[in-house]
Amino acid sequence: MIHFEGIHKSYSAAGRETVALHLLDLTIEAGEVFGIVGHSGAGKSTLLRLINGLETPSGGRLTVDGQRLDTLDGAGLRTLRRRVGMIFQHFNLLSAKTVLDNIAFPLRLAGVSKSQAHARAQELLVRVGLEAHRDKYPAQLSGGQKQRVGVARALATEPKILLCDEATSALDPQTTASVLQLLDGINRELGLTIVLITHEMDVVRRVCDRVAVLDAGHLVESGPVTDVFLHPQHPTTRRFVAESEDDDGAQHDDIAHVEGRLLRLTFTGDATWQPLLGRVARETGIDYTILSGRIDRIKRLPYGQLTLAVTGDRVDEAARSFAAAGVHVQALPR
Ligand SMILES: Nc1ncnc2c1ncn2[C@@H]1O[C@H](COP(=O)(O)OP(=O)(O)O)[C@@H](O)[C@H]1O
Ligand SMILES: [Mg+2]
Repeated sequence: MIHFEGIHKSYSAAGRETVALHLLDLTIEAGEVFGIVGHSGAGKSTLLRLINGLETPSGGRLTVDGQRLDTLDGAGLRTLRRRVGMIFQHFNLLSAKTVLDNIAFPLRLAGVSKSQAHARAQELLVRVGLEAHRDKYPAQLSGGQKQRVGVARALATEPKILLCDEATSALDPQTTASVLQLLDGINRELGLTIVLITHEMDVVRRVCDRVAVLDAGHLVESGPVTDVFLHPQHPTTRRFVAESEDDDGAQHDDIAHVEGRLLRLTFTGDATWQPLLGRVARETGIDYTILSGRIDRIKRLPYGQLTLAVTGDRVDEAARSFAAAGVHVQALPR
């Protein structure tokens, strides 16, 4: 659906050149929720704005929905933008228009009659659960409601792609969860391709299928969320994953209190439901202390990740038993 080939982008402002994206190769498949995570200034917004043609690459080839963007004229770009909806951190609603008129606005711009635009906007109001608020103005809505209006407005022209620029960063955790649930439903029911940029790994964990990590304009790691989140390789990715955890996990000081070898066990899918710890401990005579752990879901996939200090004569055999039961076993240095 979206194909970046050797894309780079630099800006020159006040005689200085800033490279926002270095030689980027990336493919986003139709129907997936693709996350891009990075710190402020990493180049995330630039990457999104290339997709809808708001920025032009300094080099490389970009194809969106089968079309090379550099071949499009003004009219071609306007048509493309109707197939690419976008939502923003600060909602960008029109304060002097009602909820219904905000949603109908892109259709009115596209020349659709008022009655048709309102009929479509009304359907979208129902989809985002805001029927009761149709005649209110943005200032009368909560942040979560405003973002729902933003989502409905982005869907008005029936786009194939939805771009989300830090769409939940201004929301509290509970509202974030409900907006992410809305996006997940839209992805599943309408088959929309969603590209979501964020500085929070937890947002990626909840809704994305695949993720790429941007660090100062470089794509440093990418893959299925199950791989990148559970087994991060690059130091930047590791920091993002650590930030998403409630506590800091096992500290070096804690480890000094326990004996044994350190193992990190990652349970996913069927392995999550097996009573493996007790069984392997009985069979091999090992003992263990749980130093840190997390049990949660990646999108809909349950997982558990535990760091254990393991003692006994048969630790290697225990590690092999865990692995044979489908658990990912990693030995950690002490
Ligand atoms: N219009 C612009 N003119 C000059 N520099 C820009 C412009 N837009 C972004 N930049 C620079 O490009 C880099 C990436 O910015 P951006 O894509 O907004 O990152 P992010 O969204 O990850 O915070 C930053 O160094 C930023 O200052
Ligand atoms: Mg940004």
